[in-house]
Amino acid sequence: MRIQVIILVCALLLVTLLSSEVAESRKSKTGSTSFEYKAINCRAYSASLTDFGGVGDGKTSNTKAFKSAISHLSEYASKGGAQLYVPAGKWLTGSFSLSSHFTLYLNKDAVLLASQDISEWPVIEPLPSYGRGRDAAAGRYTSLIFGTNLTDVIVTGDNGTIDGQGAFWWQKFHKKQLKYTRPYLIELMFSDKIQISNLTLLNSPSWNVHPVYSSNIIIKGLTIIATLPSPNTDGINPDSCTNTRIEDCYIVSGDDCVAVKSGWDEYGIKFGWPTKQLVIRRLTCISPESAAIALGSEMSGGIQDVRAEDITAIHTESGVRIKTAVGRGGYVKDIYVKGMTMHTMKWVFWMTGSYGSHADSHYDPKALPEIKGINYRDVVADNVTMAARLEGISNDPFTGICIANVTINMAAKAKKQPWTCTDIEGITSGVTPKPCNSLPDQGQDNIKACDFPADNLPIDSLKLKKCAYRIKHE
Ligand SMILES: *[C@@H]1O[C@H](CO)[C@@H](O)[C@H](O)[C@H]1NC(C)=O
Ligand SMILES: *[C@@H]1O[C@H](CO)[C@@H](O)[C@H](O)[C@H]1NC(C)=O
Ligand SMILES: *[C@@H]1O[C@H](CO)[C@@H](O)[C@H](O)[C@H]1NC(C)=O
Ligand SMILES: *[C@@H]1O[C@H](CO)[C@@H](O)[C@H](O)[C@H]1NC(C)=O
Ligand SMILES: *[C@@H]1O[C@H](CO)[C@@H](O)[C@H](O)[C@H]1NC(C)=O
Repeated sequence: MRIQVIILVCALLLVTLLSSEVAESRKSKTGSTSFEYKAINCRAYSASLTDFGGVGDGKTSNTKAFKSAISHLSEYASKGGAQLYVPAGKWLTGSFSLSSHFTLYLNKDAVLLASQDISEWPVIEPLPSYGRGRDAAAGRYTSLIFGTNLTDVIVTGDNGTIDGQGAFWWQKFHKKQLKYTRPYLIELMFSDKIQISNLTLLNSPSWNVHPVYSSNIIIKGLTIIATLPSPNTDGINPDSCTNTRIEDCYIVSGDDCVAVKSGWDEYGIKFGWPTKQLVIRRLTCISPESAAIALGSEMSGGIQDVRAEDITAIHTESGVRIKTAVGRGGYVKDIYVKGMTMHTMKWVFWMTGSYGSHADSHYDPKALPEIKGINYRDVVADNVTMAARLEGISNDPFTGICIANVTINMAAKAKKQPWTCTDIEGITSGVTPKPCNSLPDQGQDNIKACDFPADNLPIDSLKLKKCAYRIKHE
């Protein structure tokens, strides 16, 4: 019996050894590596950056290699699409643009390093819904990975890295040395069917991921890190976008982890393009000076139907925050938050109607934002300085606020008054500590009062396909 077991173990060992040898020789004989991942679309054709003269030494600029690769690969758009593979290495590059029916794929040991040569960053017009750049009134530096008017575009990888080397830009921003607005890491404008997944984004010059005037977007499995004091390094900013799904992201930010936007004052009102049908789930956020999820402050095109589920915030200033001002116009309505776990927070609930921060002095003082139907349920927080600071606008109250099933444990050094509410209307149910009088308690029986929609958004029915590739050795 014992001998049989030993023989079996030996046989197994032999088989394992043989098969690993077979795998080795298979790899060297064909000179290729294979990999697979999930995507909204697979591509018929694939090429490596090295086929276009790319050099991964961290010193040589690859801007030309990226541009010629993508220009060549864009010819496959109508022939099944193409993928550009970025091998292991450090690939210094300035801004470049993607194309339609195209995938940029980063190997797990590939690092894109953003160039610090300002001539590698062409300047483009401000966004029409903003009227000006956020840092400077004139144009803005094109984002590192940019695309406009595209269909079916993917940026993904086996957790490969994009490093914005932002300190260079942060210093210039602080010293007011920038003539134009800082670039973002990834920006896609006027595009449909976008996937950005399984990447690590480090040290962005400003915002990290900015889909704008776009639709049908999946953002999944991103690790985004830009620790304080990095100015305006928001994680993900869906801006005038429809049907977006953000899930399984881990974000450490110098600003908001997710900031939902739709244009600025009179420019955003005129452009009139809302953000709607947005789901954010399984987000982990560390943002000591900002929110886990901010709605605004630029919300002049409107924000509607946002669903946030399973949100974890650690050492973050506030949870799901509303920021707006007189002159913004627009609306924030039908917002649903379910399941937040938070540790070490300044304010669990924070709404600000006096955010200010105008594009210019031409905003319309009669353009009042409409804030209504804001629902929070199933929230647990500890080590909290203040439970809530809710400030609407006089003659323009924030209405339909609903907060249910919330347990907040205050910090040792908490404020004496846990809630402050002005120009706020709504209800609460099963909330401790006791809320302000303008949010009367409906009793424990109404704990389900703050609805969360039972239906799914259309983006949830978009299934990812399994794509398999073989790449010849680098
Ligand atoms: C991202 O990576 C995870 C784990 O490594 C994997 O399960 C998932 O399928 C990948 N997602 C995509 C969209 O490739
Ligand atoms: C992109 O699409 C927008 C909206 O349809 C349009 O106004 C703009 O001219 C297009 N830009 C380019 C470069 O085609
Ligand atoms: C991706 O890489 C980052 C940075 O090294 C790491 O923190 C994270 O856990 C990785 N994610 C996955 C899914 O492997
Ligand atoms: C509680 O929050 C304070 C900051 O407000 C922080 O210094 C402290 O470490 C936190 N305590 C715990 C147990 O996390
Ligand atoms: C209240 O919230 C907790 C999580 O914070 C959850 O486990 C529980 O099911 C919720 N209660 C109800 C009645 O939904």
